[in-house]
Amino acid sequence: MRLGAPGTAMAGDACDPLVGAQPVWRYSALDLYPRPDAVPEARQHARHVVTEWGYTQIARTAELVVSEIVTNAAHHARETATKNGVPPVRLRLTDWLSGVQIEVWDGSSRMPRAAQQPAPDAEAGRGLLLVEALSDCWGAYPTQGGGKVVFAVIRT
Ligand SMILES: Nc1ncnc2c1ncn2[C@@H]1O[C@H](COP(=O)(O)OP(=O)(O)OP(=O)(O)O)[C@@H](O)[C@H]1O
Ligand SMILES: [Mg+2]
Repeated sequence: MRLGAPGTAMAGDACDPLVGAQPVWRYSALDLYPRPDAVPEARQHARHVVTEWGYTQIARTAELVVSEIVTNAAHHARETATKNGVPPVRLRLTDWLSGVQIEVWDGSSRMPRAAQQPAPDAEAGRGLLLVEALSDCWGAYPTQGGGKVVFAVIRT
């Protein structure tokens, strides 16, 4: 289902973010600061929220997807100076009834690109392939004022 995108979505697996076509049922937002526990905090938050929403069947999947996208965002956010007290990484989970959407903002304007096929001995380049395998689709779009959102949709 393609529901229209705020900007140009660039996807690993053709996908627009879920926006506007149906009411948002509920959402949660978490600001993440550059601390060693930022990724575990995001993982735990995602697992708890998705479980509270009653989607226990996708809670672990959501946790893993959040882990990969937030790890990337934290890495790339470090390359951008934090301005005006804006948190460097922001996580939003939205329940659109048809699916849970994970969105992660960081201030870097560089867009992610999944590796085609990492070499067997490559030490990096698997995170977004994992996101692609675990989610129904994923993508990224630039945001006004700089930075971008990387998102993934997991159908419920
Ligand atoms: N938020 C982001 N901003 C900018 N570039 C990104 C972002 N997320 C991923 N990328 C880039 O997209 C590419 C693929 O990311 P991916 O997560 O698959 O691999 P990785 O982070 O390099 O390694 P791994 O996740 O296996 O430790 C990498 O070059 C990565 O730097
Ligand atoms: Mg990665």
